[in-house]
Amino acid sequence: MRVLAVESSCDETGVAVYDQEQGLLANQLYSQIRMHAEYGGVVPELASRDHVRKAVPLIRAALEESGSTSRDIDAVCYTAGPGLVGALMAGAVVARSLAWAWDVPAVPVNHMEGHLLAPMLEEHRPDYPFLALLVSGGHTMIIRADAFGTYHVLGESLDDAAGEAFDKTAKLLGLPYPGGPLVSALALEGNPSAYRFPRPMTDRPGLDFSFSGLKTAVSTALTRETGGSGAGCPREILADIAASFEAAVADTLAEKCRRALDETGFRQLVVAGGVSANRRIRESLGSLMKSRGGEMFCPRTAFCTDNGAMIAYAGMQRFLAGTRAPAGVHVFPRWSLEKIAAGCP
Ligand code: KG4
Ligand code: ZN
Repeated sequence: MRVLAVESSCDETGVAVYDQEQGLLANQLYSQIRMHAEYGGVVPELASRDHVRKAVPLIRAALEESGSTSRDIDAVCYTAGPGLVGALMAGAVVARSLAWAWDVPAVPVNHMEGHLLAPMLEEHRPDYPFLALLVSGGHTMIIRADAFGTYHVLGESLDDAAGEAFDKTAKLLGLPYPGGPLVSALALEGNPSAYRFPRPMTDRPGLDFSFSGLKTAVSTALTRETGGSGAGCPREILADIAASFEAAVADTLAEKCRRALDETGFRQLVVAGGVSANRRIRESLGSLMKSRGGEMFCPRTAFCTDNGAMIAYAGMQRFLAGTRAPAGVHVFPRWSLEKIAAGCP
């Protein structure tokens, strides 16, 4: 069996081909980052239009890269949510039209399940059950994955997601969108102990997160140092703030994972989603798992941030499990991982 998958939930158009026996055969990605950077964040209408422009050329390229023709494709998978409604709809319409034209099933995929299963694209894979920390631009969640499709959210962010906190901190520091990777690069030059930022919600029991206070702490530190924003502030100070912020996020994530591991007794931790590309966070969770005699599973950086490969992998598992899109074309800007077993919401 071979599937083609389209990812279009936010600002990346991804198309991949995955073969049941041979694994990933093609992975094409187009990032809209440069277009949105001018506006300091994703402009949903521009994102939708760009997905429409890029989807078909990427599909052609993915077919060619994988040495497939349309006759080799047994199903077309697509991200049906969560994400930006217009962006999702653009990818869904293209995928559903192709499935119709090629007379193969269309398979809706949950974007967060894609992130969750991204480590399965690697040689070093976890076995069920495992614990997962999903950290992306829109979500921060600790998940207990009992089996394929059976997921329980043990904790999540009550306000900003970790990625959002990185992006907002970047803005405060005067860095362009998307800020996460830039904060992380700047942090390499700084001292993570220069500022003692809070480790939100680690002083009380539970596995939920709250990152909005951290952003306020960064803002207060900047005001104290400069009397205003990051503009004009010496680079050493900005680097110290970036490093101290990153350390606070990494410590908070590690503390919540440690608790979840204690509670579940699990020894395998998956770390996935865009923020899992962050080196300090990977290192801190890696050493946590090492100190407990457990294992961390983290996809390669290209599979941490949005991509078609993870949707193709999850889509293949969904296809084999019998998931099929209903007759109408629907997308789901909100779609909980816990409700996957019941199909689309
Ligand atoms: O998973 P993703 O690509 O898209 C969503 O599904 O949201 O995650 C994007 C988020 C953005 O907030 C971005 O700033 C953050 O991941 N990110 C990082 C790094 N690379 C991407 N945050 C911190 N350090 C990084 N190296
Ligand atoms: Zn994502």
